[in-house]
Amino acid sequence: MSTSTTKIPALGLGTFRLQDQQAFDAVYNGIELGYRHIDTAQIYKNEADVGRAIAASKVSPKELFVTTKIWTDSFAEEKLIPSLKESLHKLQLEKVNLTLIHWPAPNDEIPVAVYMEQLLEAKKQGLTELIGVSNFTIKHLQQAIATVGADQIATNQVEVHPFLQNRKLVEFAQQQGIHITAYMPLAYGKVMQEPVIQKIAAAHNATAAQIALAWSLQQGFAVIPSSTKRENLQSNLAAEQITLSDTEMSAIAGLDIGERIANPGFAPKWD
Ligand SMILES: NC(=O)c1ccc[n+]([C@@H]2O[C@H](COP(=O)([O-])OP(=O)(O)OC[C@H]3O[C@@H](n4cnc5c(N)ncnc54)[C@H](OP(=O)(O)O)[C@@H]3O)[C@@H](O)[C@H]2O)c1
Repeated sequence: MSTSTTKIPALGLGTFRLQDQQAFDAVYNGIELGYRHIDTAQIYKNEADVGRAIAASKVSPKELFVTTKIWTDSFAEEKLIPSLKESLHKLQLEKVNLTLIHWPAPNDEIPVAVYMEQLLEAKKQGLTELIGVSNFTIKHLQQAIATVGADQIATNQVEVHPFLQNRKLVEFAQQQGIHITAYMPLAYGKVMQEPVIQKIAAAHNATAAQIALAWSLQQGFAVIPSSTKRENLQSNLAAEQITLSDTEMSAIAGLDIGERIANPGFAPKWD
Protein backbone atom coordinates (compact mmCIF):
# COMPACT_ATOMS: atom_id res chain seq x y z
CA MET A 1 0.00 0.00 0.00
CA SER A 2 1.41 3.38 -0.89
CA THR A 3 1.10 6.11 1.70
CA SER A 4 -0.06 9.59 0.81
CA THR A 5 1.21 12.83 2.22
CA THR A 6 -1.28 15.63 2.00
CA LYS A 7 -1.45 19.40 2.17
CA ILE A 8 -5.09 19.16 3.28
CA PRO A 9 -5.44 20.20 6.93
CA ALA A 10 -6.88 17.25 8.84
CA LEU A 11 -9.69 19.11 10.59
CA GLY A 12 -11.86 21.35 8.44
CA LEU A 13 -15.16 23.14 8.69
CA GLY A 14 -18.15 21.98 6.62
CA THR A 15 -20.76 24.46 5.36
CA PHE A 16 -23.46 22.33 3.72
CA ARG A 17 -26.99 23.70 4.46
CA LEU A 18 -25.63 26.90 5.99
CA GLN A 19 -27.02 30.02 4.33
CA ASP A 20 -26.65 33.78 4.63
CA GLN A 21 -25.82 34.98 8.16
CA GLN A 22 -25.59 31.41 9.50
CA ALA A 23 -22.91 30.54 6.92
CA PHE A 24 -21.09 33.81 7.62
CA ASP A 25 -21.17 33.24 11.39
CA ALA A 26 -20.00 29.61 11.21
CA VAL A 27 -17.02 30.50 9.02
CA TYR A 28 -16.16 33.72 10.88
CA ASN A 29 -16.38 32.00 14.30
CA GLY A 30 -14.63 28.91 12.98
CA ILE A 31 -11.63 30.90 11.75
CA GLU A 32 -11.52 32.84 15.01
CA LEU A 33 -11.51 29.54 16.95
CA GLY A 34 -8.65 28.13 14.88
CA TYR A 35 -10.11 26.34 11.84
CA ARG A 36 -7.90 26.86 8.82
CA HIS A 37 -9.69 24.55 6.37
CA ILE A 38 -13.11 25.60 5.02
CA ASP A 39 -15.26 23.37 2.80
CA THR A 40 -17.89 24.91 0.51
CA ALA A 41 -19.44 24.06 -2.86
CA GLN A 42 -21.21 25.79 -5.73
CA ILE A 43 -24.45 23.95 -4.94
CA TYR A 44 -24.43 25.11 -1.29
CA LYS A 45 -25.21 28.62 -2.57
CA ASN A 46 -23.10 30.07 0.21
CA GLU A 47 -19.77 30.81 -1.48
CA ALA A 48 -20.46 34.56 -1.25
CA ASP A 49 -21.22 34.27 2.50
CA VAL A 50 -18.07 32.19 3.00
CA GLY A 51 -16.11 34.80 1.03
CA ARG A 52 -17.48 37.64 3.17
CA ALA A 53 -16.54 35.78 6.35
CA ILE A 54 -13.01 35.14 5.07
CA ALA A 55 -12.64 38.79 4.07
CA ALA A 56 -13.93 39.95 7.48
CA SER A 57 -11.70 37.59 9.48
CA LYS A 58 -8.39 38.70 10.90
CA VAL A 59 -6.58 35.75 9.32
CA SER A 60 -5.02 36.18 5.90
CA PRO A 61 -6.53 34.02 3.14
CA LYS A 62 -2.96 32.78 2.58
CA GLU A 63 -3.19 30.96 5.93
CA LEU A 64 -6.47 29.28 5.01
CA PHE A 65 -7.18 26.16 2.98
CA VAL A 66 -10.40 26.70 1.02
CA THR A 67 -12.15 23.96 -0.94
CA THR A 68 -15.00 24.39 -3.39
CA LYS A 69 -16.77 21.83 -5.55
CA ILE A 70 -17.97 22.02 -9.13
CA TRP A 71 -21.61 21.12 -9.60
CA THR A 72 -22.69 18.71 -12.34
CA ASP A 73 -24.21 21.45 -14.53
CA SER A 74 -20.71 22.76 -15.28
CA PHE A 75 -19.08 19.56 -16.54
CA ALA A 76 -19.64 19.99 -20.28
CA GLU A 77 -16.74 21.15 -22.50
CA GLU A 78 -15.66 24.75 -21.77
CA LYS A 79 -18.07 25.16 -18.83
CA LEU A 80 -15.97 24.17 -15.83
CA ILE A 81 -13.37 26.95 -15.84
CA PRO A 82 -15.88 29.82 -16.19
CA SER A 83 -17.90 28.31 -13.34
CA LEU A 84 -14.79 28.10 -11.14
CA LYS A 85 -13.96 31.74 -11.97
CA GLU A 86 -17.46 32.67 -10.79
CA SER A 87 -16.86 30.75 -7.54
CA LEU A 88 -13.57 32.62 -7.03
CA HIS A 89 -15.39 35.91 -7.56
CA LYS A 90 -17.98 34.99 -4.91
CA LEU A 91 -15.29 33.77 -2.53
CA GLN A 92 -13.28 36.98 -3.13
CA LEU A 93 -10.19 34.83 -3.77
CA GLU A 94 -7.70 34.74 -6.64
CA LYS A 95 -7.45 30.96 -6.28
CA VAL A 96 -8.76 28.22 -4.05
CA ASN A 97 -6.58 25.54 -2.47
CA LEU A 98 -8.67 22.63 -3.67
CA THR A 99 -11.37 22.18 -6.30
CA LEU A 100 -13.37 18.97 -6.35
CA ILE A 101 -15.74 17.39 -8.83
CA HIS A 102 -18.76 17.22 -6.49
CA TRP A 103 -20.39 14.06 -7.89
CA PRO A 104 -19.74 11.95 -10.98
CA ALA A 105 -22.01 13.13 -13.84
CA PRO A 106 -25.59 11.84 -13.44
CA ASN A 107 -25.86 8.47 -15.29
CA ASP A 108 -22.32 9.12 -16.57
CA GLU A 109 -23.84 11.19 -19.36
CA ILE A 110 -20.63 13.22 -19.54
CA PRO A 111 -17.47 11.08 -19.51
CA VAL A 112 -15.14 11.49 -16.52
CA ALA A 113 -12.28 12.44 -18.89
CA VAL A 114 -14.21 15.51 -20.14
CA TYR A 115 -14.48 17.16 -16.73
CA MET A 116 -11.21 15.88 -15.24
CA GLU A 117 -9.27 17.38 -18.18
CA GLN A 118 -10.92 20.77 -17.60
CA LEU A 119 -10.21 20.50 -13.87
CA LEU A 120 -6.53 19.83 -14.57
CA GLU A 121 -6.48 22.80 -16.94
CA ALA A 122 -7.93 24.99 -14.15
CA LYS A 123 -4.99 23.92 -11.98
CA LYS A 124 -2.53 24.73 -14.79
CA GLN A 125 -4.10 28.18 -15.06
CA GLY A 126 -3.48 28.74 -11.33
CA LEU A 127 -7.16 28.93 -10.38
CA THR A 128 -6.74 26.11 -7.86
CA GLU A 129 -3.67 24.80 -6.08
CA LEU A 130 -4.93 21.20 -5.94
CA ILE A 131 -7.67 19.19 -7.63
CA GLY A 132 -9.68 16.21 -6.51
CA VAL A 133 -12.98 14.38 -6.61
CA SER A 134 -15.93 13.61 -4.39
CA ASN A 135 -18.43 10.75 -4.29
CA PHE A 136 -16.32 8.82 -6.79
CA THR A 137 -16.70 5.03 -6.87
CA ILE A 138 -13.76 2.74 -7.66
CA LYS A 139 -14.82 2.76 -11.32
CA HIS A 140 -14.92 6.57 -11.43
CA LEU A 141 -11.57 6.79 -9.63
CA GLN A 142 -10.03 4.43 -12.18
CA GLN A 143 -11.30 6.65 -15.01
CA ALA A 144 -10.03 9.79 -13.29
CA ILE A 145 -6.62 8.17 -12.72
CA ALA A 146 -6.48 7.13 -16.38
CA THR A 147 -7.17 10.76 -17.37
CA VAL A 148 -4.97 12.85 -15.05
CA GLY A 149 -2.89 10.33 -13.04
CA ALA A 150 -3.35 9.36 -9.38
CA ASP A 151 -0.71 11.86 -8.25
CA GLN A 152 -2.93 14.75 -9.42
CA ILE A 153 -5.91 13.62 -7.31
CA ALA A 154 -5.45 15.24 -3.91
CA THR A 155 -8.46 13.55 -2.29
CA ASN A 156 -11.68 11.64 -2.76
CA GLN A 157 -14.18 13.31 -0.42
CA VAL A 158 -16.74 10.67 0.51
CA GLU A 159 -19.29 9.91 3.20
CA VAL A 160 -17.49 8.10 6.02
CA HIS A 161 -18.64 7.79 9.62
CA PRO A 162 -18.96 4.91 12.10
CA PHE A 163 -22.21 3.70 10.45
CA LEU A 164 -20.82 3.85 6.87
CA GLN A 165 -17.14 2.97 6.77
CA ASN A 166 -16.86 2.52 3.01
CA ARG A 167 -13.97 0.03 3.43
CA LYS A 168 -13.70 -1.22 -0.16
CA LEU A 169 -13.50 2.26 -1.64
CA VAL A 170 -11.19 3.57 1.09
CA GLU A 171 -8.78 0.67 0.58
CA PHE A 172 -8.72 1.18 -3.19
CA ALA A 173 -8.04 4.91 -2.80
CA GLN A 174 -5.28 4.26 -0.27
CA GLN A 175 -3.63 1.68 -2.56
CA GLN A 176 -3.50 4.44 -5.19
CA GLY A 177 -2.06 6.92 -2.69
CA ILE A 178 -5.26 9.01 -2.80
CA HIS A 179 -6.13 10.72 0.46
CA ILE A 180 -9.64 10.39 1.93
CA THR A 181 -11.70 13.27 3.26
CA ALA A 182 -14.58 11.99 5.41
CA TYR A 183 -17.74 14.04 4.96
CA MET A 184 -20.70 13.88 7.35
CA PRO A 185 -18.21 12.54 9.91
CA LEU A 186 -20.86 12.87 12.65
CA ALA A 187 -23.51 11.08 10.53
CA TYR A 188 -25.37 14.39 10.72
CA GLY A 189 -25.48 14.21 14.51
CA LYS A 190 -26.45 10.50 14.82
CA VAL A 191 -23.14 9.50 16.42
CA MET A 192 -24.17 11.45 19.52
CA GLN A 193 -26.84 8.85 20.32
CA GLU A 194 -24.67 5.76 19.83
CA PRO A 195 -24.08 3.91 23.18
CA VAL A 196 -20.65 2.42 22.26
CA ILE A 197 -19.39 5.87 21.24
CA GLN A 198 -20.98 7.46 24.33
CA LYS A 199 -19.16 4.96 26.58
CA ILE A 200 -15.79 5.65 24.92
CA ALA A 201 -16.52 9.38 25.20
CA ALA A 202 -17.16 9.08 28.94
CA ALA A 203 -13.85 7.20 29.38
CA HIS A 204 -12.00 10.07 27.68
CA ASN A 205 -14.03 12.81 29.36
CA ALA A 206 -14.91 13.85 25.82
CA THR A 207 -18.04 14.25 23.69
CA ALA A 208 -19.36 11.58 21.32
CA ALA A 209 -18.69 14.01 18.46
CA GLN A 210 -15.03 14.29 19.43
CA ILE A 211 -14.71 10.49 19.56
CA ALA A 212 -16.26 10.04 16.10
CA LEU A 213 -13.90 12.68 14.69
CA ALA A 214 -10.86 11.19 16.46
CA TRP A 215 -11.75 7.77 15.00
CA SER A 216 -11.61 9.19 11.45
CA LEU A 217 -8.51 11.31 12.09
CA GLN A 218 -6.66 8.32 13.51
CA GLN A 219 -7.19 6.47 10.21
CA GLY A 220 -5.50 9.35 8.38
CA PHE A 221 -8.67 10.90 6.96
CA ALA A 222 -9.40 14.62 6.90
CA VAL A 223 -12.76 15.43 8.55
CA ILE A 224 -15.06 18.38 7.85
CA PRO A 225 -17.80 18.51 10.51
CA SER A 226 -20.24 21.41 10.43
CA SER A 227 -21.99 23.21 13.23
CA THR A 228 -24.16 26.27 13.65
CA LYS A 229 -23.03 26.59 17.29
CA ARG A 230 -19.84 28.24 18.41
CA GLU A 231 -19.44 25.86 21.38
CA ASN A 232 -19.72 22.79 19.10
CA LEU A 233 -17.28 24.31 16.61
CA GLN A 234 -14.85 24.80 19.46
CA SER A 235 -15.22 21.38 21.07
CA ASN A 236 -14.99 19.56 17.71
CA LEU A 237 -11.55 21.11 17.17
CA ALA A 238 -10.29 19.38 20.33
CA ALA A 239 -10.81 15.96 18.66
CA GLU A 240 -7.24 16.27 17.38
CA GLN A 241 -5.96 15.87 20.94
CA ILE A 242 -7.67 12.50 21.51
CA THR A 243 -5.94 9.16 20.96
CA LEU A 244 -8.12 6.07 20.90
CA SER A 245 -6.79 2.64 21.88
CA ASP A 246 -6.80 -0.27 19.42
CA THR A 247 -9.72 -1.77 21.36
CA GLU A 248 -11.70 1.47 21.06
CA MET A 249 -10.90 1.76 17.34
CA SER A 250 -12.13 -1.83 16.79
CA ALA A 251 -15.27 -1.26 18.86
CA ILE A 252 -16.19 1.67 16.59
CA ALA A 253 -15.23 -0.33 13.49
CA GLY A 254 -17.88 -2.82 14.64
CA LEU A 255 -20.63 -0.20 14.25
CA ASP A 256 -20.58 -0.25 10.43
CA ILE A 257 -24.05 -0.96 9.05
CA GLY A 258 -23.52 0.56 5.60
CA GLU A 259 -25.96 3.36 6.42
CA ARG A 260 -25.67 6.01 3.74
CA ILE A 261 -27.23 9.44 4.33
CA ALA A 262 -26.19 11.59 1.34
CA ASN A 263 -27.94 11.15 -2.01
CA PRO A 264 -28.73 14.00 -4.41
CA GLY A 265 -31.07 11.70 -6.38
CA PHE A 266 -28.53 10.54 -8.95
CA ALA A 267 -25.95 8.75 -6.81
CA PRO A 268 -23.88 6.15 -8.68
CA LYS A 269 -24.08 2.44 -7.85
CA TRP A 270 -21.83 2.28 -4.80
CA ASP A 271 -19.04 -0.27 -4.28
N1 LIG B 1 -19.09 16.09 -0.98
C1 LIG B 1 -20.34 15.91 -0.65
O1 LIG B 1 -21.16 15.43 -1.46
C2 LIG B 1 -20.82 16.26 0.72
C3 LIG B 1 -22.06 15.80 1.18
C4 LIG B 1 -22.44 16.13 2.47
C5 LIG B 1 -21.62 16.89 3.28
N2 LIG B 1 -20.42 17.36 2.79
C6 LIG B 1 -19.53 18.22 3.61
O2 LIG B 1 -19.37 17.61 4.89
C7 LIG B 1 -19.71 18.56 5.88
C8 LIG B 1 -20.22 17.85 7.12
O3 LIG B 1 -21.42 17.14 6.85
P1 LIG B 1 -22.81 17.59 7.48
O4 LIG B 1 -22.73 19.02 7.82
O5 LIG B 1 -23.89 17.15 6.57
O6 LIG B 1 -22.94 16.64 8.77
P2 LIG B 1 -22.05 16.39 10.09
O7 LIG B 1 -20.90 17.32 10.15
O8 LIG B 1 -21.83 14.92 10.18
O9 LIG B 1 -23.10 16.76 11.21
C9 LIG B 1 -23.55 18.07 11.40
C10 LIG B 1 -24.64 18.02 12.49
O10 LIG B 1 -24.03 17.63 13.71
C11 LIG B 1 -24.34 18.59 14.72
N3 LIG B 1 -23.13 18.78 15.53
C12 LIG B 1 -21.92 19.22 15.11
N4 LIG B 1 -21.04 19.23 16.14
C13 LIG B 1 -21.73 18.81 17.23
C14 LIG B 1 -21.38 18.62 18.58
N5 LIG B 1 -20.15 18.85 19.01
N6 LIG B 1 -22.34 18.18 19.44
C15 LIG B 1 -23.60 17.94 19.00
N7 LIG B 1 -23.99 18.10 17.72
C16 LIG B 1 -23.06 18.53 16.84
C17 LIG B 1 -24.73 19.85 14.00
O11 LIG B 1 -25.70 20.52 14.76
P3 LIG B 1 -25.42 21.99 15.40
O12 LIG B 1 -25.44 22.93 14.24
O13 LIG B 1 -26.59 22.13 16.32
O14 LIG B 1 -24.10 21.93 16.09
C18 LIG B 1 -25.34 19.33 12.70
O15 LIG B 1 -26.71 19.05 12.88
C19 LIG B 1 -20.77 19.43 5.17
O16 LIG B 1 -21.02 20.62 5.88
C20 LIG B 1 -20.13 19.61 3.83
O17 LIG B 1 -19.14 20.62 3.88
C21 LIG B 1 -20.00 17.04 1.54
